[in-house]
Amino acid sequence: MRTCFAAPAFACLVAALLAAPAEVPGAPPSAASATAKARPVIRAEGRWQFSDDGGKTWTSRPPAVAPGRRVHLDARATFRVPDPSASSHWELTHHLRPSRVTVSFRLNGTELPGVLPGMRYKVIRGIPAGRLRKGANELTAKVLVDNRPRGRRRLADLKPRALPLPPQPPELAGQTLRIQTGPALGAFGEDFFTVCLRTNLPAEVRLTVTEQAWAANRRPSEPRVSATTSSAGLYHRFRADRHPTCTRLRYELRASAPGQTPTTAGAAVELPVFTGKGRANDRMRFIITGDSRTRTDKWGVVAAAILAEKPDFLIFNGDMNGHGSSDWEWDEHYFGPDPARRLLATVPYYPVYGNHEEDAAVMRELFYTPSDDGRAKDWAQEIGPALFVGIDGRPGHGWRDSRWIAGTLAASKAKFIFFVSHYPAYSSGNNGELEPDGQPEDRGYRIARRVILPLLRKHRATAFVVAHEHCYERSDLPGGIAQICAAGAGAPLTSRKPDDQARRQNPYSKIYLKTLNYGLFTIAGDTCTFQAKTPAGKVIDTLSWRARRADGTPPASRDGAKRNMP
Ligand SMILES: [Fe+2]
Repeated sequence: MRTCFAAPAFACLVAALLAAPAEVPGAPPSAASATAKARPVIRAEGRWQFSDDGGKTWTSRPPAVAPGRRVHLDARATFRVPDPSASSHWELTHHLRPSRVTVSFRLNGTELPGVLPGMRYKVIRGIPAGRLRKGANELTAKVLVDNRPRGRRRLADLKPRALPLPPQPPELAGQTLRIQTGPALGAFGEDFFTVCLRTNLPAEVRLTVTEQAWAANRRPSEPRVSATTSSAGLYHRFRADRHPTCTRLRYELRASAPGQTPTTAGAAVELPVFTGKGRANDRMRFIITGDSRTRTDKWGVVAAAILAEKPDFLIFNGDMNGHGSSDWEWDEHYFGPDPARRLLATVPYYPVYGNHEEDAAVMRELFYTPSDDGRAKDWAQEIGPALFVGIDGRPGHGWRDSRWIAGTLAASKAKFIFFVSHYPAYSSGNNGELEPDGQPEDRGYRIARRVILPLLRKHRATAFVVAHEHCYERSDLPGGIAQICAAGAGAPLTSRKPDDQARRQNPYSKIYLKTLNYGLFTIAGDTCTFQAKTPAGKVIDTLSWRARRADGTPPASRDGAKRNMP
């Protein structure tokens, strides 16, 4: 369900540094917990066995699936567990190839916990000791192998396909409690902020917030310390109070579970205030970027540069991993680099879904968007002087009903409107290719042209910020809309098509650069300035806009934008 969450003009956050290194989110368990007890590891008694005839016959080599077929294989393995209580929780490393097949598991006849719909796992964590039996335990799996044609491939192109032979038997290992993913700050407002995290086994997490500084001379008589505790589980989502004049707070997360050593993470966050004697001239800085995917080292470089900018918040415009449904990619890639973990823990974060997110269920647990339950993929929020709208612009959505977008834009009196979607309307690179009829091959582009742009023109949006094409490209679209493709957060960079083709694909392109980049927006009073920057700090494009009028009508100039090329 799409929702519109409108916050009044309020403060925005500026990220601050994390505190002591021992509290860095995602760090290994503390020395005390790591040395307390060697964790037990139990390997299955033999390799996986497979059956494609409903369990009549079993082989140790996965049977091949013929072209055009979609088959559920049965798989089985046996564990002999001498002492289930050797650990409060266990994790299963199955060693089946999870990236191209879907797998579901049952232990002693019942499904394993902690598995989200549609997600694929290398490791399934948080299996309670009570689910294991002393002695023999049977692990079974259903493995879906789909060998039907996909995309442009034809049936004749396909060969028999077999699940790769697992390199070793599955294994169970006792778990030590840790914060597995996050924390990640989410949407924030005048009187709240949000934070989400995942623990590696069911735990309770206590969030303690200590307000440390306030806007000039507004220190309350009793500085507030608040605390709340999540229900036991793997995912923990907090929407915590914040005093409207609070400019700096510290949050601390303490995870605990029976039989486990508690573990903590924490960060300090700066909280500028717009109203009253807060930040002068409604000054606000935010960054929009996208497309990190699996080039984790490059993403780390870009994340470090963004962290150094200390933006008030970050909008990430999709394609965070190669496959959003591959659960491990969130820890290995997106939250993998140390700068990325620090960035996500200290800078409020607004996600936009791209095609590589695959509508992954885990995203709705790890991130908190400005919406009623914090889980909406389409969101809108007024932050200080600007309205931000983020949408799921993927072709699967379609947007045949665009009333929510139209109503959100029409209702806003904000000085600036930034509309963020993964899909451009035009691009000069690979993804902007045209069909013989002259229309974009990619249906996401068609939706942007047919649905989004007319609404942005009608309501005089400031900019249409997109991604999907791994480059920096600015396009001055008819009607005075600047389309900014700032999609250089690490994914393999794409080249501009040859001149003639590029001009046909995107006649409005003003600059195309094949480089890592992010977009930094600064609003001060009635002016918004934009810089596209490389992680090395080089400014590769600039742009500025004057505010829309309070009644939403456009500024005096023709399109309200002034371009200054460096
Ligand atoms: Fe994409």
